[in-house]
Amino acid sequence: MPIKNKSVIFDRENLNKENPKEFLYKALKMSPSDLILEVRESGLKGRGGAGFPTGTKWMLASAAVSDKKFVVCNADEGEPGTFKDRVLLDEFSDLVFYGMIMCGYAIRANKGFVYLRGEYRYLLDKLLKYLDKMHEENLLGKNILNSGFDFDIEIRLGSGAYVCGEESALIESLEGHRGESRNRPPFPVNTGYMGHPTVVNNVETFATVPIIISRGAEWFTTVGTLNSKGTKLISVSGDCKEPGVYEVPFGISINDILKLVKAENTKAVQVGGASGHCVPKEQFDRALSFEDLSTGGSIMIFNESRDMLHILKNFMEFFVEESCGQCTPCRIGNIKLLEGVEKVEAGDCALSYIKELIELGKSMQLASKCGLGQSSPNPFISIMTNFENEIFSQR
Ligand SMILES: Cc1cc2nc3c(=O)[nH]c(=O)nc-3n(C[C@H](O)[C@H](O)[C@H](O)COP(=O)(O)O)c2cc1C
Ligand code: SF4
Repeated sequence: MPIKNKSVIFDRENLNKENPKEFLYKALKMSPSDLILEVRESGLKGRGGAGFPTGTKWMLASAAVSDKKFVVCNADEGEPGTFKDRVLLDEFSDLVFYGMIMCGYAIRANKGFVYLRGEYRYLLDKLLKYLDKMHEENLLGKNILNSGFDFDIEIRLGSGAYVCGEESALIESLEGHRGESRNRPPFPVNTGYMGHPTVVNNVETFATVPIIISRGAEWFTTVGTLNSKGTKLISVSGDCKEPGVYEVPFGISINDILKLVKAENTKAVQVGGASGHCVPKEQFDRALSFEDLSTGGSIMIFNESRDMLHILKNFMEFFVEESCGQCTPCRIGNIKLLEGVEKVEAGDCALSYIKELIELGKSMQLASKCGLGQSSPNPFISIMTNFENEIFSQR
């Protein structure tokens, strides 16, 4: 699947002209601290959803004292409606791997893992062949490009749990344990894989770094908004004529995205996947950015024919299934929210009870142990609030 609207970063034709291998030469000629500084100055924030500044993450891992450090590429891509990392791994694996090598060089790690979503097993052979080719060309392994730096990449397959995309659960899974989130702090940059400092970044974050190093931090900051620099890959699905993966500048409005993908009669847009927020028509002038509507990439479009309660039920069933059960707010809270939806569906629920459940959702956001339970009430709160009239007038 090609990336549409590619303009700034993920334009393969332009990249081929630039010779991506040169990116690695350039990075390995810089000092590790200059490389981190360049990433910091670009303003790059993590593309996995939380938007933590990438340069700062690398700086923290670089400052941590340990005889071993690790780099992990989070390719779990479990958020419903997200499929842009799959496209990057398929078509831009060189950029992803170069980004990992650069991170390893910057923080002084010699080993990287790609945690590949189990359902993407079909990409494994192609990726392994590419890693072999990189070894042959001295882009991986010992003394990469005669820089004196050693780095290797291993691919590990996930087994289909959504929570394993959360970085500490991912590390547990990499270590061979059941995928459950850890208490934070300590954060992975200090205590990650096997207790060693570890940088976990999203596929798109790694793929963006070589372009920043090649074209410079200043170039990168010319696109986007004050606090959201560069472009974002979005995976667009649902009621539109042209679904797919698009590269868009941060700051683009929902209205402009809808035009781009030829959507008509749109009633709502779910930004950020099942754990994101449902944006009603009146708010389509809002912008995709860390300041306003942030997303790891998922944009789901719903037209006037859709039943918002049915959509919400679908999301809540997902969270009940995927909660790892470690903490009570998430384990029990999601069940309560789903029961509330089912009561409304059966015409057996007062609006006042839904208001109580919204308060329960807010408590879950505060009290859950990890991002899953902290974000799973988002669709309940936003759909019940924004579509109260539709949901209650129909029943
Ligand atoms: C339940 C859950 C699932 C997640 N799934 C993913 C995922 O599939 N891919 C990803 O990059 N980040 C995912 N994250 C975010 C990661 O914990 C982490 O913030 C991210 O990998 C850091 O990379 P970044 O800074 O480049 O965004 C998830 C978080 C939660 C709470
Ligand atoms: S919030 Fe949910 S997924 Fe996270 S630790 Fe608690 S029960 Fe597990």
